Amino acid sequence: MLDGKKSLFSGMQATGTLHLGNYLGALKNWVTLEDEYQCFYSVVDMHSMTIRQNPAELRRKARALLTLYIAAGLNPEKNCIYYQSHVPAHAELSWVLSCFTYMGELNRMTQYKDKAAKHADNINAGLFTYPVLMAADILLFQSDVVPVGSDQKQHLEIARDIAERFNGIYGDVFTIPEPYIGKAGARIMSLQDPTKKMSKSDENPNASIYLMDDPDTIIRKFKRAITDSDNEIRYSEDKPGISNLIDIYTAVTGKTIEETEKEFASAGYGDFKIAVGEAVANMLKPIQDRYQELTQDKAYIDKVIKENAEKAGYYANKTLRKVHKKIGFPERIR
Ligand code: TYM
Repeated sequence: MLDGKKSLFSGMQATGTLHLGNYLGALKNWVTLEDEYQCFYSVVDMHSMTIRQNPAELRRKARALLTLYIAAGLNPEKNCIYYQSHVPAHAELSWVLSCFTYMGELNRMTQYKDKAAKHADNINAGLFTYPVLMAADILLFQSDVVPVGSDQKQHLEIARDIAERFNGIYGDVFTIPEPYIGKAGARIMSLQDPTKKMSKSDENPNASIYLMDDPDTIIRKFKRAITDSDNEIRYSEDKPGISNLIDIYTAVTGKTIEETEKEFASAGYGDFKIAVGEAVANMLKPIQDRYQELTQDKAYIDKVIKENAEKAGYYANKTLRKVHKKIGFPERIR
């Protein structure tokens, strides 16, 4: 809650290229929340440091992601869109919260275990304390909800635990956040291995639909999607490939699973794959067009970056000051 209105925070990493899972699991829901909530959406460049980055590339990708937020429909007048690194309060609160987080809690995080296994040569402390920074992101803005895909659920649980622990000692400082996970599209799987989630770090480009893929590429990738060998379009645990395509189709069109099964009752996999591909391509086309337009308007994007960082900083510092006072840091002399 901020200024009497419910609030929320969410963010995405600027590493890799945004894919359909990021869009359907998160971004697509974000654009529906601006009236009900005071919204903060960050390009979480500080989180990206847990893996080695090429500096020029990181800067370019961060700007592309921020532009894409707007292209996807987030109005920067109503949604605070900013770079995490422009608001130092994230790092400051993260330090305080790390003193209220146990090693054992962080050790249980599945994302940490996965990433540590994947980057065995660089298991840095930041990778381990990543969920604390995430908790700081969320709690700085007194978030009531956090709209994310289901893979972030465990991180939200630890954010809640940290907030409750802190409140238990110091009184009601933080709002306890709830996850906001959409009904459809919360976990989009790889097109090449439907038992794995679609991921930015997947090396096989056919496994993911990228938001900037052109229609031919999108349809070709769907045609190649791995499915089982029978030809029935039915949602079922033992048919992960087709179930994933049904999930995508329902998330894009707003139809239910039953409606989708009925619509394609007499179709084969080939036709269904093309229909899913077309629906996705049609959904992405206006976003891609708007993105191209926005990249031409440097002054506008710069203005958003500056003004929204100031706005985010204002609210973040308000919470941070409250925390500093509660824990006993000396008051500043003005
Ligand atoms: P990131 O950048 O990995 O993903 C951004 C958002 O996309 C969702 N997502 C998916 N949804 C459905 N299917 C998929 N295959 C899929 N893959 C990703 C994620 O759930 C997420 O909502 N740690 C976060 C970023 C972050 C954050 C935060 C999020 C930092 N601080 C505070 C919420 C609140 C991350 O790496 O997301």
